[in-house]
Amino acid sequence: MTTILTTGGAGYIGSHITLELLNSGYDVVVFDNFHNSSRKSIERVSRITNGAPKLVEGDIRDQAALDALFASHKIDAVIHLAGLKAVGESVARPAFYYDVNVAGSTALFNAMLKHGVRHAVFSSSATVYGEPEIMPIEETTATAPVNPYGKTKLMVEQILTDITGIGEGWRSMVLRYFNPVGAHISGQIGEDPLGFPDNLFPFIAQVATGRREKLNIFGDDYPTPDGTAIRDYIHVMDLARGHVKAIDYLLSERAENNQTPIVNLGTGNGFSVKEVHAAWQKACGFNIPAEITARRDGDVTIYCADASKAEALLGWKASQGLAEMCEDHWRWQKANPQGYS
Ligand code: NAD
Ligand code: WQD
Repeated sequence: MTTILTTGGAGYIGSHITLELLNSGYDVVVFDNFHNSSRKSIERVSRITNGAPKLVEGDIRDQAALDALFASHKIDAVIHLAGLKAVGESVARPAFYYDVNVAGSTALFNAMLKHGVRHAVFSSSATVYGEPEIMPIEETTATAPVNPYGKTKLMVEQILTDITGIGEGWRSMVLRYFNPVGAHISGQIGEDPLGFPDNLFPFIAQVATGRREKLNIFGDDYPTPDGTAIRDYIHVMDLARGHVKAIDYLLSERAENNQTPIVNLGTGNGFSVKEVHAAWQKACGFNIPAEITARRDGDVTIYCADASKAEALLGWKASQGLAEMCEDHWRWQKANPQGYS
């Protein structure tokens, strides 16, 4: 059996990847400190798959815990998702973000070096591109992150690339996600933001269940057809399948030693906030109150991936559209109005 370690595997994206790896015949070990997740996600994953992941509780900054993890499990490759991801919090608490995201990642890579584990997929973000002027965004587009969160992601990309560049037998991959949304079709696992939801889909979902009064649409004076900002939303199950393809690739003869390809994971299609709002109303079958408010600081007009490299290198292409993203996110939220709690 080939065993994949998912750090942060109990979180929103990690739980869907863990599920898809199990369904693809991999064994999975999840390592998570539950800073932003619940063990219940892993219990649910076990319920809806044939296999069950092993769960180890620990912090990626804890070198001894990582050593014990690698000493007691035969790991073939790592998908490194663990970390902090809130842009606003990263501006308010940069030291915390650098510590968890950067120092935590180097602790993980040191443990991999010590235990001879030589394949890593890193969860990066399209946010590393900053505010590019040319759309769609290619992997060769210059990086210029504008907040500490984005800077930590770029730093870890560079650290992993350098380690992979000289490590014997090392092969890694950086995946830059656009806007992951939606949930597994079972409605059993999904996004469960602790505290105030910053992002569009979880916010609309909470308006739909009545937890919040209305959606604030941040600005309708952007230079887009309907005046609202456009993003490349990607279904979390498409994203999960992209990771399985990345692991398949790294473990195959196709991958080159000492290389760390960078790959965008997006659909290549953009939707405006108003289009997303309309699709949500259709998925729910009722009106979702919304109001136009001022622009949010730091938002850009349009963010859209050129997703062709993923298809060429991995044979992966997103297949799920906006309607499925809303329907699946809604199924999860409706069945679990308070998330996992
Ligand atoms: P999430 O918060 O749901 O998942 C992150 C997981 O990491 C959580 O389970 C959390 O408990 C765990 N974790 C945090 N700090 C840890 C630590 N010190 N030690 C061990 N575990 C720790 O977030 P997500 O949306 O699933 O994101 C997963 C990854 O994908 C992150 O690295 C994030 O930066 C990246 N990403 C997310 C998005 C997005 O919009 N959700 C977009 C691009 C990239
Ligand atoms: C989408 C659109 C908002 C909420 C963020 C991170 C990025 C990456 C993905 C991790 C924007 C509008 C939102 C609301 C709204 N994460 N909006 N009302 O900002 O594209 O990207 O998540 O790597 O780093 O910055 O996503 O979902 O917050 O916003 O009108 O209540 O929805 O203005 O146009 P964003 P988002």
